[in-house]
Amino acid sequence: MFPSGFWVAETKGNGKKMLIGYVMSCRWNREEYHRFEDVADFPSNHNPRGANLYVIFLAVHPDFRRQGVGSELLSSMIEAQRKKYTGISKVQLVALDTLRNFYERMGFKLIRELPEWLSYAAGLLMQKSLR
Ligand SMILES: CC(C)(COP(=O)(O)OP(=O)(O)OC[C@H]1O[C@@H](n2cnc3c(N)ncnc32)[C@H](O)[C@@H]1OP(=O)(O)O)[C@@H](O)C(=O)NCCC(=O)NCCS
Repeated sequence: MFPSGFWVAETKGNGKKMLIGYVMSCRWNREEYHRFEDVADFPSNHNPRGANLYVIFLAVHPDFRRQGVGSELLSSMIEAQRKKYTGISKVQLVALDTLRNFYERMGFKLIRELPEWLSYAAGLLMQKSLR
């Protein structure tokens, strides 16, 4: 269980709260990634002392995209983890090429391409150092 690695974004409409985005992450010491299947069992791979905060998925409701919600969600989650756990030294994720600029704007750097990540697309292993 890693509840602090799961954040949601909410908005209020007609007096009701509505969930408009979420980000999921786990911690581990892994460095070798080839295919999504290698990491897909996130609960088993999670290590509460891991130095690597791995972003599993980030999503924003289509009606609320391009308003800063995704960037805010991801940066808030990372900043909270950094403050809470001094043992985390970096954040990693695997992105599709279309989102490379999005993550670069948030301080992530390309580490390497993962040509076999998905059956239909390569992935980009990206990393942001927290030290
Ligand atoms: C990726 C995602 C989370 C971004 O959320 P968001 O709230 O729109 O992001 P922000 O508003 O903070 O940032 C917007 C910037 O992200 C980039 N971006 C967002 N969606 C994009 C897309 N589909 N293609 C290319 N760039 C995109 C653009 O640079 C955009 O800046 P611009 O509006 O000035 O062009 C959202 O598009 C989404 O949920 N996509 C589907 C799920 C997904 O692919 N998740 C990523 C898994 S690695």
